[in-house]
Amino acid sequence: MDDQLGSPKLFRRPRKAVQQRSRICVIASVSGLLMASCVLYLIISLVSARDIFRYSPTFDSSNAIDTQFYDLKDYVGHADGWARGERVLFCVPLRDAASHLPMFFGHMRNMTYPHNLIDLAFLVSDSSDDTMGVLEKNLLEIQSDPNPEMHFGQIEIFQKDFGQIIGQGFSDRHGFAAQGPRRKMMARARNWLSSAALKPYHSWVYWRDVDVETISPTIIEDLMHHDRDVIVPNVWRPLPEWLGNQQPYDLNSWQESDGGLQLANTLDEDAVIVEGYVEYATWRPHLAYLRDPYGDPETEMVLDGIGGVSILSKARVFRSGAHFPAFSFEKHAETEGFGKMCKRMGFAVVGLPHYVIWHIYEPSNDDLKHMEWMAQEEVRQQREESMQKVYERVYGAGFLDVEDEWKEEKPLILRNTDSSRGARKIQVDWDDVDTFGDDLNGQGLADFDPAL
Ligand SMILES: *[C@@H]1O[C@H](CO)[C@@H](O)[C@H](O)[C@H]1NC(C)=O
Repeated sequence: MDDQLGSPKLFRRPRKAVQQRSRICVIASVSGLLMASCVLYLIISLVSARDIFRYSPTFDSSNAIDTQFYDLKDYVGHADGWARGERVLFCVPLRDAASHLPMFFGHMRNMTYPHNLIDLAFLVSDSSDDTMGVLEKNLLEIQSDPNPEMHFGQIEIFQKDFGQIIGQGFSDRHGFAAQGPRRKMMARARNWLSSAALKPYHSWVYWRDVDVETISPTIIEDLMHHDRDVIVPNVWRPLPEWLGNQQPYDLNSWQESDGGLQLANTLDEDAVIVEGYVEYATWRPHLAYLRDPYGDPETEMVLDGIGGVSILSKARVFRSGAHFPAFSFEKHAETEGFGKMCKRMGFAVVGLPHYVIWHIYEPSNDDLKHMEWMAQEEVRQQREESMQKVYERVYGAGFLDVEDEWKEEKPLILRNTDSSRGARKIQVDWDDVDTFGDDLNGQGLADFDPAL
């Protein structure tokens, strides 16, 4: 028994068996754990990649060199676009603008929005001056500036003539009859420009006229941080002193009124209402006239029609189909029609009454006539002055000067005049005024003929 019991072999074997069994257990549980984690991994990856069962294009450059993929939700535009690297399409319609371009590029240099995030798009139409040449010269200059921060992003120049409907003089362009056809033609030009230039990677579209004289270098950020779909500043213009120094310029930014809606109802389907003409009294509140020089520049005003001197809008507004109507849309065209259309589509359209940019002073034909008159007047006055000198010499020689004598005699003569009489109260007796004329043989005063 002892031998049996004491035999180590008896115990050794089962110990070995236990060891082997536990080793198998460890291996099994480790592999089980591995398999479980594999399954878990598969489940996790299935959950995290929800689209795993959907077809997904693989637009990477290795297998589709000429294919670009854009997720348009990445280009919607935010209040701090400059910090997020959002690209702005900067649209400038040009027509006989050679003289304004140097000033315009002065403003472009000063602009603080990162230049490399701004893509420039110009449309040159119906120009008889060297707009194209001057544009190219200025672009070349700024794009080869030693300071790389001056360089803008992509630049596109488009050329298209639309035909001259009317002359380009101030009065031709601003006369009442010309407004409808003129605005429809400008709308066509804007649509050609934006439809050709807007790329999927643009988050914002900024429209700017070249003939702006004074504007903040932070204009884009100033408008952008309001985070509105469409936003415009107030536009005024300086005037010569003889015209009162300054004046609201852009009357196209307004809020709709009952008067405006009533007028619209009375007009033909194709009619275009334009502001600032006595022919169309709309009684609308204009952004321009609501300016308070000491008002808060952040103040917003909800608008229906807008002017086109400086518009910042989110690119999604254009992607959604809003455009500049080249026909009568709610009795408006071009930028005013654009404002109305955006409003109708549910976009936020606002203006800043106390934030002002300054358009150049562009003299009207009447102003030009007045300036010519002033120049002639100056010449005439000079001539008169020199004539006066001649006359004075002649008079001096021909007449005796009595000025000094008069100074001596004056007090003596006036001494006999009692000046205190002037202050005396004079009583007038009106008692018989009603009977006056009774002795004129029955004639009333009205018939009284002093000649008789
Ligand atoms: C650009 O900025 C400079 C320096 O502040 C200023 O002197 C110049 O007038 C500005 N140019 C324009 C066109 O506003």
